[in-house]
Amino acid sequence: MMGALQFGILAACVVLFVPMGMAGWHLSRNKMLFFSGALFITLAVGVHLTPYFPSVSDVISSFSSPAVVLEDRDSCTSFLHDISWDDNSIVVSDFSLNSSDYGEPWAWTNSTSVIACGFSKLGRSDALDLLNGSWVVIAGDSQARLFILALLNLMLDSTEMESVRRDLFKRHSDYHIVIEENGAKLDFIWAPYPMNLTGLVKGFQRERQYPDVLVMGSGLWHMLRFTDASDFGDSLGLLRRSVASLLPIVSEFGSDGPVTGSVSVQSPHMFWLGMPTLINSMLNTEEKKEKMTRVVCNAYDRELDESKLLRRLGGPFMLLDIESLSRSCGSRCTADGMHYSGVVYEAVVHIMLNELLIESRQRIWG
Ligand SMILES: *[C@@H]1O[C@H](CO)[C@@H](O)[C@H](O)[C@H]1NC(C)=O
Ligand SMILES: *[C@@H]1O[C@H](CO)[C@@H](O)[C@H](O)[C@H]1NC(C)=O
Ligand SMILES: *[C@@H]1O[C@H](CO)[C@@H](O)[C@H](O)[C@H]1NC(C)=O
Ligand SMILES: *[C@@H]1O[C@H](CO)[C@@H](O)[C@H](O)[C@H]1NC(C)=O
Repeated sequence: MMGALQFGILAACVVLFVPMGMAGWHLSRNKMLFFSGALFITLAVGVHLTPYFPSVSDVISSFSSPAVVLEDRDSCTSFLHDISWDDNSIVVSDFSLNSSDYGEPWAWTNSTSVIACGFSKLGRSDALDLLNGSWVVIAGDSQARLFILALLNLMLDSTEMESVRRDLFKRHSDYHIVIEENGAKLDFIWAPYPMNLTGLVKGFQRERQYPDVLVMGSGLWHMLRFTDASDFGDSLGLLRRSVASLLPIVSEFGSDGPVTGSVSVQSPHMFWLGMPTLINSMLNTEEKKEKMTRVVCNAYDRELDESKLLRRLGGPFMLLDIESLSRSCGSRCTADGMHYSGVVYEAVVHIMLNELLIESRQRIWG
């Protein structure tokens, strides 16, 4: 699987990092994660470290970079959503995240591409290591809330989760937590409308402090309260502009074609939480049934595409495609046609973490 060149780089990394005496870095574990050969060290230098040690990336980039790594992002990223559901393990209804009690409710498919990319569900300690010391901001509506619940469920134990669950389900409030074990700071910002997201981005700009990982999503509230797709599109356009002026790197995203330019080590990893598939007949109010129709949903999706927020259309955000995941999980995975079982958001979390691995590897080696 691994070329001699990659192996050389790995070896070089080991020689380079081990003597650096990075205490507490668990390097001894040498976990095999990606491409069945990438040392765990790529995790440790992952999401957060490079900004603090720019010299690390300089040194590493002085090794010639293997082309295959550059291809990872485009090729493997496009297979990240190839998952399938196990009918027998899906717990319908509530937001129970104890899916492990029932076997594996989802898995990546066994297609050759997926196998070649070597995606894996991260365990607790891997997730803690990957996000060690990172600042993660998750902003949006209830979809974002379910997403951060799934993320915390991966990183916290069940007693800690109890209190988190209580706090997070206080309606319409922000939530902040610092994970003791790895110093990661997670902020949930209640931001139901695109305008709220724009306000948040402007706040980062004012404070000149940018998260390492930024996860955003919006749409359901606008759809219900305004039911005006073109207004939604306009506000997404404003959001895109504020994100573009946020960071020098982001402003390099042209309005035509995907990113090709150099990626600054400081730019946040950005993800867009797509809207779920709405099952109209299951929606729990008449107003929702009336306003949140298939036609309106499609119009909102079109506006999202046209806003060019998404990376596949040249924008800054990688889409976490809750729509397709929830559609394939289906009506058995939702009680109200809008909020899906925890397993859906768990899958989304693992998709994001695997993308972070791909991007981290690319930042170091690319
Ligand atoms: C997290 O990173 C810091 C350095 O930024 C390091 O001191 C600490 O040991 C790391 N913790 C883990 C769990 O890797
Ligand atoms: C993939 O293959 C493995 C082993 O052959 C099997 O256990 C697993 O269920 C398969 N996964 C899917 C999603 O088909
Ligand atoms: C899920 O876990 C919580 C706490 O760990 C427990 O109270 C609850 O009964 C579990 N739910 C199921 C469906 O097993
Ligand atoms: C979100 O934006 C709306 C419309 O601009 C505003 O009325 C509301 O107060 C904002 N909410 C939050 C939580 O910022």
